Amino acid sequence: MNGDVVIRDETSEDADAITQVTAAAFQDLEVSGHTEQFIVEALRAAGALTVSLVAERDGRVVGHIAFSPVTISDGAADWYGLGPVSVLPELQRQGIGTALITAGLARVKKLCARGCCLVGHPGYYTRFGFRNVPGLTVEGVPPEVFFALSFADDMPQGSVSFHEAFRAEKPSDVAPTGASQPSAADTH
Ligand SMILES: CC(C)(COP(=O)(O)OP(=O)(O)OC[C@H]1O[C@@H](n2cnc3c(N)ncnc32)[C@H](O)[C@@H]1OP(=O)(O)O)[C@@H](O)C(=O)NCCC(=O)NCCS
Repeated sequence: MNGDVVIRDETSEDADAITQVTAAAFQDLEVSGHTEQFIVEALRAAGALTVSLVAERDGRVVGHIAFSPVTISDGAADWYGLGPVSVLPELQRQGIGTALITAGLARVKKLCARGCCLVGHPGYYTRFGFRNVPGLTVEGVPPEVFFALSFADDMPQGSVSFHEAFRAEKPSDVAPTGASQPSAADTH
């Protein structure tokens, strides 16, 4: 990765840039519902952006990653959903996404998270230790695109629900606290 990329927590001044980076990253992605920027905004408004990191280059936000709490039907606590994760199209494949994911996982782990899960492209997330877990599912999401990484010895079983904010479809969709079932295109 280019050495002048800094990964840091989002500040209140980053919100617009994060919205723009997220929209740009997913713009040409066929599986995207193009609502990811609204999801990030709704997570923030709901106080559910547990970890929100930006990648900054030359003073400009060029990437972002979000982590938010999930609920699991077996009652497993302290699990988080990774995503959306975004890098500006012109700066992709330079290691910025890897830096955001690595730093983000370290951060949630430090918060005593027991694990992390995501809906994402097969082939990308296994390099970070994520795997498909039989018996751990998200309603309506094909099992091959749902991944989990346990930071503990155990792996939960059951149905995972992402935050209600994953239903956001427009800027004003500020989701109340609650759970949601994202489509395969919603979480990344
Ligand atoms: C996914 C994303 C965050 C990765 O960030 P990045 O900075 O491009 O990734 P890195 O440079 O750290 O890693 C590049 C590696 O990821 C792979 N990769 C990137 N996007 C991928 C994808 N959607 N599916 C599979 N592999 C992918 C590349 O092939 C590359 O692998 P290689 O190093 O073996 O060649 C970025 O490409 C992005 O914003 N994409 C659009 C939004 C998106 O798809 N978000 C995640 C949805 S699953």
